[in-house]
Amino acid sequence: MAFFKWKDSFNIGNDTIDNQHRSLLECLNDCYLGVSTGKQSEIDPGLIKRLKTYADTHFRYEESLLQTKGDPKLGDHEKQHKFFESQLAEFEQANKAKAGKAPESVLVFLRDWFLKHILEEDKNIFSYLK
Ligand SMILES: [Fe+2]
Ligand SMILES: [Fe+2]
Repeated sequence: MAFFKWKDSFNIGNDTIDNQHRSLLECLNDCYLGVSTGKQSEIDPGLIKRLKTYADTHFRYEESLLQTKGDPKLGDHEKQHKFFESQLAEFEQANKAKAGKAPESVLVFLRDWFLKHILEEDKNIFSYLK
C-alpha cells in the first residue's frame, strides 16, 4: 500500500464535503506513515482525536444535507456513519485498556472506508450537488 493522492475524480462537487474528505485522506496518509515507520505499538491518540473531530463535523454535515433534501437513504447513511464512530470508540478503548490493537488495523479500516464509503456511497448519494 502506498500513499493516497487526491484525484479530481474523488470530488463530489461540493467544496465543504470535498475538503472534509481530503482531511480524511490526510489522516489515512498520516496513519500510513506511522505504520510504515514501524515504531508505534498503539494507535496514535492524536489521530483518533482528529478522526473524532472529522466524524462530528463531517457526518453531521452530510446528514443535515440529506435531512433537508428529505432523502429516504438518510437512515441507512446514518447507520454507516454510526458504524465508523463505533469503530473509533473501539480503537480508543483498546488504547485505554492497553489491549494493543495494532495501528495496522486502523490503516486498513480507514482505507476501506475511503474506498467504499467515500468513493462509492457518498459519491452516489451526493451526486445531486454537482
Ligand atoms: Fe463523507
Ligand atoms: Fe457519508
